[in-house]
Amino acid sequence: MTGGGSSIREVQALLATLVASKPGGRIAEIGTAFGAGARAIAEALPPDATFVTVESDPARYAEARAALSGTRAEVLNARWEDVLPARAPFDLIFFDGGTRGQPFELPISLLAPGGVLIKDDLTPGEPIAGDPVREAFFEDQRLIAVELLTTAATAAIVAVRRP
Ligand SMILES: C[S@@+](CC[C@H](N)C(=O)[O-])C[C@H]1O[C@@H](n2cnc3c(N)ncnc32)[C@H](O)[C@@H]1O
Repeated sequence: MTGGGSSIREVQALLATLVASKPGGRIAEIGTAFGAGARAIAEALPPDATFVTVESDPARYAEARAALSGTRAEVLNARWEDVLPARAPFDLIFFDGGTRGQPFELPISLLAPGGVLIKDDLTPGEPIAGDPVREAFFEDQRLIAVELLTTAATAAIVAVRRP
C-alpha cells in the first residue's frame, strides 16, 4: 500500500529529540516515504546508534535512498512486516506506514523494554474509546503512553514499553 506524505517539522523535531536520548540505540522507521522524517532521525542519531527505515513503494524508496545518501540511514525497499521482526528489538520505532490485519500488535512486539513508539497523524481531542489507534496504545498494559499536540490541529502518541 502506498500513501501519505512527509511528516511535519514539529514531528521531525519530536523524533530528533527522542532519538538523541538513545545512545547505542537501535532505531527503526516504518514508512520512509521521501525521507523527510528519516533525515531528521539520521541527523540526531547518536554516534553508536543504528537506524533502519523501510519503504514498500519502489519509486518512493528510490527517492528516499538518494535523499538520504551520505547519512547513516539504512534504507530498505520492503514491507516492514517482512524485514523488521528479524532485526528486533528496537529502542525506538517511528510507526508511520501501512498496517494489515491487526495493526499495532506487531510493532509493539518489536520494542525492547524501555523502547519508545511514536505514532503521529492523530486529530486531537478525540476519545480513546472507539478509536482503534488510541485503544491500542492506551489500553495495552505493556505500554505507558501520552498524547501530545504537535500543532493546534495535530497530535502524536508517544508510548514506552514498560521495562
Ligand atoms: C506517511 S508516509 C511516511 C512519511 C515519513 N515517515 C516521513 O516522516 O516523512 C507512509 C509511507 O508508508 C509506506 N508504506 C505503506 N505500507 C508499507 C509497508 N507495509 N511497509 C513499508 N512501508 C509502507 C507508504 O508507501 C508511504 O510512503
